[in-house]
Amino acid sequence: MELNRRTVIAGAAAAGVAASALGTGTAQAATSGGGKKPVKELFGTLADGSKVYRWSLENGGTRLKVLSWGGVVQSLELPDRHGKYANVSLGFDNIADYVAKTPYFGALIGRYGNRIAKGQFTLDGKSYQLSVNDGVNSLHGGTQGFDKHIWDVEGFTSGSDVGLHLYYTSVDGEMGYPGTLKVKVTYTLNKHGDWRIDYEATTDKATVVNLTSHVYWNLAGEGSGTIEHHELTIPASRYTPTDSGLIPTGELAKVSATPFDFRKTKPIGRDIRAGHVQQVQAKGYDHNWALDKGITAKPEHAATLHDPHSGRTLKIASDQPGLQFYTGNFLDGTLTGTGGHTYRQGDALCLETQHFPDSPNHANFPSTVLRPGQTYKTSTIHTFSS
Ligand code: BGC
Repeated sequence: MELNRRTVIAGAAAAGVAASALGTGTAQAATSGGGKKPVKELFGTLADGSKVYRWSLENGGTRLKVLSWGGVVQSLELPDRHGKYANVSLGFDNIADYVAKTPYFGALIGRYGNRIAKGQFTLDGKSYQLSVNDGVNSLHGGTQGFDKHIWDVEGFTSGSDVGLHLYYTSVDGEMGYPGTLKVKVTYTLNKHGDWRIDYEATTDKATVVNLTSHVYWNLAGEGSGTIEHHELTIPASRYTPTDSGLIPTGELAKVSATPFDFRKTKPIGRDIRAGHVQQVQAKGYDHNWALDKGITAKPEHAATLHDPHSGRTLKIASDQPGLQFYTGNFLDGTLTGTGGHTYRQGDALCLETQHFPDSPNHANFPSTVLRPGQTYKTSTIHTFSS
């Protein structure tokens, strides 16, 4: 049975569960539709003395903690079907680990999410060489992508919404990209506990942009083991197969009769060992699904993820044409997360709403070019229930 948010929170309160017992550190009471002001606290200090802050937001039963470093979602707590909270997003409890070794846990990704082959592309007859950080390719913006910078953050409340505005300016030539890109990202929690991300960017020279969010989900709770029993739906008839460097070949292959078919809900583990050459190459799922809806004016259904044990469900809606589904294939037991557990392969998954990887080098993929005078705008909505 699916309980709505109000029932769950009221149930937890009625059971006399103290706010401190539900949470992992901050002293915010559980509310339904509170619209309470975001709380800012010092999270850590970088080697150069810069301060990194953590903002705590709570609304409609969802609790979100966000760092000014990379706009990182450091923790996202949701109730299960009994009202018991867990942090469903992988992360660290200290800034040093984020700086030294994060595989993009919870981060905002830019200027170009995913890979660009050899870090090269041509735009308006000019060739550009980007920072290369994944073999010969450029991944998630290069060695110092948007995830590795301090963002300016402002907390807000608006009606029954609470949220954060995050600002970052990427100067002309940073990581090899042309044009100074002014980026504004808004995280909003509404009174139902939905988490919305609105991305906006403008440029002063033609450039390419593909922003996304890199939350590693485990709806049973971070550090609780594999996500293979999570059930996933992706409304996509095609995906973009890759070469061994995970660069799309350019083909839009059919998912039918392959392990890549998630049009009907299935547990992630069902076909993950099917031995399809694309899976072997990627060590699991690490591909872009071409959503049947394509680019839409408003966010539309892009994925549903459900954990049958806790009852937690995440629905993602996006206006973007693609979705990268990544099964944490490179987690290798060397990172210790927020709850003190090490993370191993398959302990989380990412669902990154995006344009297709390497679009600047594929004329048949939707364009990622942004020109002066245009505003890049895209939104992703995460709806939670249990
Ligand atoms: C990519 C993976 C990559 C991971 C890094 C994902 O978005 O698809 O290939 O290893 O990010 O954490």
